[in-house]
Amino acid sequence: IFTHIEQAAADPILGLNDAFKADTRKTKVNLGVGVYKDDAGQTPILNVVKRAEAKLLEIEKSKNYLGIEGVQQFNHAVQTLLFGDNAEVIAQKRAVTVQAPGGTGALRIGSEFILRHTQSRTIWVSNPTWANHQNIFTTVGLEVKTYGYYNEGTHGLDFDAFLADLQHANAGDLVLLHGCCHNPTGIDLDDEQWQIIADLCLEKELIPFFDFAYQGFGRGIEDDAQGLRIVAAKVPELIVANSFSKNFGLYNERIGALTLVAENSDVAACSYSQIKRVIRANYSNPPAHGALIVSTILSDAELNLQWQQELAEMRIRIAQMRELFVETLMAEGVKQDFSFIKQQMGMFSFSGLNIEQVQQLREQFAIYIVGSGRISVAGMTTSNIPVICKAIAQVQ
Ligand code: LMR
Repeated sequence: IFTHIEQAAADPILGLNDAFKADTRKTKVNLGVGVYKDDAGQTPILNVVKRAEAKLLEIEKSKNYLGIEGVQQFNHAVQTLLFGDNAEVIAQKRAVTVQAPGGTGALRIGSEFILRHTQSRTIWVSNPTWANHQNIFTTVGLEVKTYGYYNEGTHGLDFDAFLADLQHANAGDLVLLHGCCHNPTGIDLDDEQWQIIADLCLEKELIPFFDFAYQGFGRGIEDDAQGLRIVAAKVPELIVANSFSKNFGLYNERIGALTLVAENSDVAACSYSQIKRVIRANYSNPPAHGALIVSTILSDAELNLQWQQELAEMRIRIAQMRELFVETLMAEGVKQDFSFIKQQMGMFSFSGLNIEQVQQLREQFAIYIVGSGRISVAGMTTSNIPVICKAIAQVQ
């Protein structure tokens, strides 16, 4: 029965990670997967997470099941982070949130809910987008279409193509939007462009589906939510998949959330009950630890402040690495103009390096970046940047 099964292709991001681990060259550098490293090349546990865990160890009395929706205090805290302290959607009870196993789990639960309970069958994603989006949505049974996003010539946003392509979308179609720190390009919309997208969704009755995995890595926790808040103020129905892998450094705890906003509280409550059924059929109910860490931190003023400081440190270090990367490339005499990298937001840089250059970097220099030319700037350090830039100079 199993004999006909063929070997699957390696995952473009996590498969690269495996190849990196298996590489025995001492000088190897991993700029593939989006994981934050400090300047010593480590992915540390945030101090505030350690403090919250110590607190939990003391007060936790039971490992009894959570409800299907997860830790309720966590779910409330998520809504405040997404929509702000005094958000209307929260006061009107139009938003419902369930805990999810990471951003990927939230995307999966959200799209499965859409497929089972609505007529929507199509989701529009940016070209390019995170390599796993297509995989998640087609596995569930949605048709994936793409809208233009990136202008190769300017290394900037192609907003005209974005709008032109969405003209072909039909009422009820989903539009996947990266809340901030677009993965892989690092190019975000400004407030005016968010307003235009909100108007377009409203006019054409499209459902915004936010993938919001990097809150706090662009301009700050509140500023990064601006696009979502602009859209939520105009569009009555939307979905948000958010993740705490990056901004709390909780990668292996798999902690994220799915939030649905409906036009009124009754519709929200019915949707919530059906989302819980989807979860029950997938994994019954979620694990507790990651959600308890996040809610412990967010509900304590002192811990919350410490989290914001540690998050700011990560954000600032990445911005410094962008500057240093561009300067060092110039110092190495690289002719290609890479100054656009300084404008990009978040962990990634869409470098413009082509697939041959990416392969050469890996084969000759043990430098791992994603095939699309996406570089994880969060993996750069003051000591590996000279090595990386010398290698790029040689593959020019
Ligand atoms: C990435 O894009 O590198 C991260 O979101 C990790 C992943 O799961 O792909």
